[in-house]
Amino acid sequence: MKALVWHGRNDVRCDTIPDPRIEAPRDAIVKVTSTAICGSDLHLYDGYIPAMESGDVLGHEFMGEVVEVGRENHKLKVGDRVVVPFNICCGECFFCRSGQWSCCERTNRDADQATKMFGHNTAGLFGYSHLTGHYPGGQAEYVRVPYADVCPTKVPAGLSDEQVLFLTDIFPTGYQAAKFAEIADGDTVAVWGCGPVGQFCIRSAQMLGAGRVVAIDRVAERLDLAKQSGAEAIDFSKEDVYERLNQLTQGRGPDRCIDAVGMEAHGTDSWDAVADRTLAAVGIGTDRIHALRDCLRNVRAGGTVSLSGVYGGFLNMVPLGAAFQKGVTIRMGQCNVLNYMDELLAAIEQGKIDPSFVITHRAGLEEGPGLYETFKNKKDGCIKVVMHPHS
Ligand SMILES: NC(=O)c1ccc[n+]([C@@H]2O[C@H](COP(=O)([O-])OP(=O)(O)OC[C@H]3O[C@@H](n4cnc5c(N)ncnc54)[C@H](O)[C@@H]3O)[C@@H](O)[C@H]2O)c1
Ligand SMILES: [Zn+2]
Ligand SMILES: [Zn+2]
Repeated sequence: MKALVWHGRNDVRCDTIPDPRIEAPRDAIVKVTSTAICGSDLHLYDGYIPAMESGDVLGHEFMGEVVEVGRENHKLKVGDRVVVPFNICCGECFFCRSGQWSCCERTNRDADQATKMFGHNTAGLFGYSHLTGHYPGGQAEYVRVPYADVCPTKVPAGLSDEQVLFLTDIFPTGYQAAKFAEIADGDTVAVWGCGPVGQFCIRSAQMLGAGRVVAIDRVAERLDLAKQSGAEAIDFSKEDVYERLNQLTQGRGPDRCIDAVGMEAHGTDSWDAVADRTLAAVGIGTDRIHALRDCLRNVRAGGTVSLSGVYGGFLNMVPLGAAFQKGVTIRMGQCNVLNYMDELLAAIEQGKIDPSFVITHRAGLEEGPGLYETFKNKKDGCIKVVMHPHS
């Protein structure tokens, strides 16, 4: 079959590799009908996540048709159409039972590595390195889905791939970020990053009662899309974000700040962004955290900072003093996709939201390597890429 394979930094290829097979009794094999590239894939592409190996198959946002099931999988049958959350979960452990799906303690085949890095083990993920189970991903014609009787969710008839594909990750991720922000009716919510995740943070904040949403980025078409959703926009390359947010909030700062940027923030020429780059270059820094610093500095006293952007390593110059002195609540984490699946699927079915609004590029798998480059560099108006491996 064809699949998008990581070969090194900035080197993704469309290779021909062996078809996946059932390996465990709860597995299913899914024929992928739609798969997307995520900002999280860019962290792999850019070499920010350690423990990738040449030959790893990418992709954690995918859906398709079940073509084979293991003998102990009683949930799925051949022919079912499913969306597959990016977390791989056993459904039985302490964390799965308490809804902390992203920390399932049984599915990460690289548990030792993860424990060394993070103190404790976290869940297996599709297509996401030898820290999270080295499971081949779904940017492929077929994929093996382990524990396929837990997370994969059947798609109700009548909904298109484009309507439901983002239930695998970015819609619930944006929704969780807004939930974690603890938005009260009428709150002012500022969202850093207007990529696909940021767009869903904006929509979710509105669904959860925000009075005003302010979107921050520097890419014109992403800010425009945020405005179409009813957000006010700040271009951080042209305006002083702190000044403008204070103007909008009687000098107090936004009630809730959501970071939808993560570890590869740009910071124009600010001193801290220059320091991040320098520290990374000499090996004593990992993440570039300008957006996180901005959230902590801007949030009003007693407010909330919610991180949906991914962080991976050891952070320098975190303004913890600002967070502490202002009594800020900080929440973060990989999305526990399954917690939001039913609610968001219902919102789509009821026509409250059509998640396909973020899609700008549709292609086959062969065009994948070029589209990684286009998405990374935000060329050609690219916001979200969806690939159809069988068309
Ligand atoms: N928590 C989760 O489970 C989860 C799931 C999916 C994605 N993510 C993470 O969410 C983040 C965003 O993903 P995406 O797909 O939208 O990626 P993306 O790269 O398309 O979007 C990031 C956006 O942030 C903007 N940006 C960069 N620096 C900024 C700054 N200083 N201030 C404001 N905006 C800035 C960029 O211009 C870009 O538009 C990534 O870190 C991704 O890994 C997390
Ligand atoms: Zn993703
Ligand atoms: Zn579990």
